[in-house]
Amino acid sequence: MGILDKHRVIETNATLLLVLSFLVVTIGGLVQIVPLFYLENTIEDVEGMRPYTPLELTGRDIYVREGCYVCHSQMIRPMRDEVERYGHYSLAAESKYDHPFQWGSKRTGPDLARVGGRYSDGWHQDHFRDPQSVVPESVMPKYDQLERTLIDGEYMGDLLRTHAFVGVPYTSDMIEAAQADFAAQADPDSDYDGLLERYGEESVNVRNFDGKPGVSEMDALIAYMQVLGTMVDFSTFTPDASR
Ligand code: HEC
Repeated sequence: MGILDKHRVIETNATLLLVLSFLVVTIGGLVQIVPLFYLENTIEDVEGMRPYTPLELTGRDIYVREGCYVCHSQMIRPMRDEVERYGHYSLAAESKYDHPFQWGSKRTGPDLARVGGRYSDGWHQDHFRDPQSVVPESVMPKYDQLERTLIDGEYMGDLLRTHAFVGVPYTSDMIEAAQADFAAQADPDSDYDGLLERYGEESVNVRNFDGKPGVSEMDALIAYMQVLGTMVDFSTFTPDASR
């Protein structure tokens, strides 16, 4: 009996074909999945990554609420055209504290994964108020209500606690000081030493982002924009090839 004749036996017996297909798929699946259980970590630890500050996290919530992900991605793929336009490709570690992640699937506007530090706070403010005033051909909607909506930050502790619940390493210290840290980051005249101590000095921007008294949704959203992609220092970063 030739090999084709042997195969005929399988192809003409639906039950046998099903059983054998199932076996093949099972083995293939196990080969892919089992090693993941024995890896210590599927996400490479990268220096500089820290949880968002309460103000940044609030800005992120506004980003989600307003549906910015419908027009903007936050994931730079490792292809030359993207890397030349947006900067270093995104690392898995850079979204490990994102719940839910904001990779997106549509780019009506540019990728925002590394927009932090690219523009001034004032540019962002003008742009959110009226995108067409800075980019005349823009199709981005106006978000001028943001600077008129103040946030008291009363719920900051709960917000951090919720993220801690899903695995973000917020300490009890951070949770306790959440409301104070929230206000301090938008007020350079405040005592913000505690904020820097808790979140590190490298990537925390303390500024009055919208130039007005009180913490507005505009402050929070700009604080979030300005930190995007700035936590990892790519002048010293080298991928860990051993994993
Ligand atoms: C209808 C689609 C749309 C929505 C919704 C949208 N944008 Fe945009 N966005 C654009 C387009 C198009 C541009 C490019 C033109 C411009 O700069 O306005 C842009 C540009 C930007 C830029 C400048 C990026 C760069 O690198 O030049 C930022 C920052 C930005 N958007 C943030 C946001 C945020 C935050 C939200 C949600 C509050 C948002 N966008 C909602 C379409 C959108």
